[in-house]
This record gives sequence, structure tokens and C-alpha cells, in this order.
Amino acid sequence: MAEANLSDIIFSTRAMRRLKPDPVPDDLIEQILRAGQAAPSGGNAQNWGFLVVKDPDVRQQVQVYYQRAYDEGVGKHYAERLASMPAGEARDKLERQVAAVHHLTLHFHEVPVWIVPCLDVGPRGPVGMSGSSVYPAVQNMLLTARSLGLGSTLTCRHMMFGKECDAIFGLPDTVVSFAILPVGWPEGKFGPVSRGPLSQVVYRDRWGQPYF
Ligand SMILES: Cc1cc2nc3c(=O)[nH]c(=O)nc-3n(C[C@H](O)[C@H](O)[C@H](O)COP(=O)(O)O)c2cc1C
Repeated sequence: MAEANLSDIIFSTRAMRRLKPDPVPDDLIEQILRAGQAAPSGGNAQNWGFLVVKDPDVRQQVQVYYQRAYDEGVGKHYAERLASMPAGEARDKLERQVAAVHHLTLHFHEVPVWIVPCLDVGPRGPVGMSGSSVYPAVQNMLLTARSLGLGSTLTCRHMMFGKECDAIFGLPDTVVSFAILPVGWPEGKFGPVSRGPLSQVVYRDRWGQPYF
């Protein structure tokens, strides 16, 4: 996959939630981190930090909150969506997604490496646009992981218990985690991303006016 072009990578970087517990070489993690650090941040402030978590104890402690957020929120939300959905292709697709989300929830701590992108947001705490300075780095890292044959998923659910998780990560008071990227070798194959028609989401000059 090393010679794949950017377009191939972009259109096959999917949420990979079934990952093997096998170790990931440090040099590959370093390549992912370098790609993250190459991303833009507001005013080029680079007020970020990337915590690489391999300690099983840290991962286990955070997984408890990740699962709690599923049990108390996300899982119920998915169940409600499924309950009101007629049988058919869309329902089958959502069922597969929910199964994968649940699988990652149960096995989150078994994924061998987590990259936790953080920002020093100062004493005021995060504001609306704070994440804009770290999610470009996140996407660079997801694309690079994909290019190396590694799977990952952008996850933010731990932020429902952000203070508790950030304390487990040992973050200073002004530093906040914005995602957890579980990185591992995928159990399945990468496939093409599936999105709706571009014409339904692109407008010309004013919202609602067709572009295409
Ligand atoms: C802001 C954000 C937060 C997300 N949080 C989670 C998460 O906590 N857990 C999870 O399994 N997936 C999470 N995802 C992954 C999305 O569900 C996934 O990217 C989306 O379903 C598209 O998947 P696909 O690219 O495989 O089609 C998150 C994605 C985004 C952009």
C-alpha cells in the first residue's frame, strides 16, 4: 500500500473498529505522529500534544468510561434509531455499524496503541473553535495509518467523561484530550467509503441552490 496515491487512501480510509491486539512497530507510530505534527493549527500555535498510550492499565481504566458512555448514551441512541427503522438495506448497514461500534467498545483497551491528540487550551478552557486546531492533525494521522495498512477510527466518546479520562491520562489542568485514535492491524479488509450523492450536500452561492 506504500505506493498508493492520495486519492486511493482518502477514499478507503474508513472507521476500522475490529483490530488485532498484535503489536505495532514504533517506527510506524512515529510516521503517523510526524504526519499529525505536519498539520495546520490556528496561528501555527502548535499548542498540541500527542499522548501515545501503550500501558494496558491506562487503557483499561479509560475503557470503563468509554463503555459507560455507550451504555448510558450512544448505545441507547443507536437502539432507538434501529427500532424506528424499517427492514432493508439501510437498516442492515446500520446494524453492521452498531455491531462494529459495540465490538470496539468492548475491546477498546485491547487495541495495542492509542494516540490521544490533546490541546493546551489555557485557563479559559476549550472554546467553540478549539478543536479546529487538532482535527486536521487527526485526519493526517488516520490517512497515514491507512497508508501503512493500519486501522483506526476517530473516537470522541470518552469526552462524555472528559475530566475523568484526562485525569487518568495525567494531563495538566490546561490540557484537554480531543480524541482517542486506537491504532492496530485490521481484522478485515479496507473497503471504499460510502457517502451520499455530492449533489445533496453542495450548494451554489446560497444554501439550498443546486450547484450541480
Ligand atoms: C467527531 C467524531 C467523533 C466520533 N466518535 C466515535 C466514537 O466515539 N466511537 C466510534 O466508534 N466512532 C466514532 N466516530 C467515527 C464515525 O462514526 C465514523 O467516522 C463514521 O461512521 C463514518 O465511518 P466510515 O468512514 O467507516 O463510513 C467519530 C467520528 C467523528 C467525526
